[in-house]
Amino acid sequence: MTARVLAPFGARDAEVVARRETGGYVVFTALDESGPEPAPGQFYMLSGEGWGSAGGRPFLPRAFSVAAAGKGDGGVRLEFLLEAVGPATALLAALDKGSRLTLTGPLGRPFSDPAAVNPGAPGAILVGGGIGVAPIAILRRHLQANGIPARTLLGFRDEAHSGGLELFGTCQEVGLAFEDGHQGHQGYVTDLLQVALKGDDAASAAVYACGPPAMLEAVRVICADRGAQAELAMESPMACGYGACFGCAVPLSGGGYMRLCVDGPVVRADEIETALVAGAGHR
Ligand SMILES: Cc1cc2nc3c(=O)[nH]c(=O)nc-3n(C[C@H](O)[C@H](O)[C@H](O)COP(=O)(O)OP(=O)(O)OC[C@H]3O[C@@H](n4cnc5c(N)ncnc54)[C@H](O)[C@@H]3O)c2cc1C
Ligand code: FES
Repeated sequence: MTARVLAPFGARDAEVVARRETGGYVVFTALDESGPEPAPGQFYMLSGEGWGSAGGRPFLPRAFSVAAAGKGDGGVRLEFLLEAVGPATALLAALDKGSRLTLTGPLGRPFSDPAAVNPGAPGAILVGGGIGVAPIAILRRHLQANGIPARTLLGFRDEAHSGGLELFGTCQEVGLAFEDGHQGHQGYVTDLLQVALKGDDAASAAVYACGPPAMLEAVRVICADRGAQAELAMESPMACGYGACFGCAVPLSGGGYMRLCVDGPVVRADEIETALVAGAGHR
């Protein structure tokens, strides 16, 4: 398993140093002057200017996966990919260059390398859906930097609910699926996964996925049926992000619960009962 990067104690102030729109989504870059570089799959709790302004909402910080990270002069540049779906994401998506925000992180358990997911894996199959492409993008870059082959499959509902493809850089091997069929395969990204697992020896595959609960559940079931090993980056409502409130508990396949903020958000597909987590933000 990739080592978890531990967050320094407490929340930090950071400056927004870049912002751009990408399809229906927004990417902004925060300069974290004193934090460590995160591992792929980890997340931050974010809050910012205007918090509490809409009748007290948003009240608590919200969780966001890091989509890209790089150490440079002045600190670590952290890129976040957002879809404005509620009060917190609307405020964060509107932050301009020069705005300030508050962050805690990096938090949670990161993705493992393919050899740890499945010792026989010749590479990785990456599956991203909607805003869930964020942690898949940083994982893709990490694998590329380490010379590990990866095939990337990305799915979106339609053009208005898509974006962030540029986060995948120059990688050629990206399979696209759109539910409205305006580009790539018409249908679900899991259709592409079924084809990829047919061509390969599924038993030697290492699959990584992030996306809406229904997509993650389909990935979990497909991989279980084919005997493929998988890691899923999941969402659940998170109030604290560091294990104190138990708001993020998800049921385990062997009974009991895990706290997704500290025992996840990346989980082994076979350790959870279902990926259909109530209250996860995205459809
Ligand atoms: C580990 C992790 C990583 C994440 N990474 C990202 C990311 O990279 N980018 C990103 O955009 N988001 C990400 N999210 C999701 C984001 O944190 C949530 O969508 C957040 O709640 C948005 O806050 P909000 O105030 O804008 O919307 P909220 O008011 O919290 O609502 C968000 C959405 O959830 C729905 N919703 C709210 N409460 C419920 C409920 N009880 N039951 C069902 N649906 C409900 C709302 O209708 C809305 O569509 C991540 C979440 C987690 C846990
Ligand atoms: S969000 Fe509080 S315990 Fe996980």
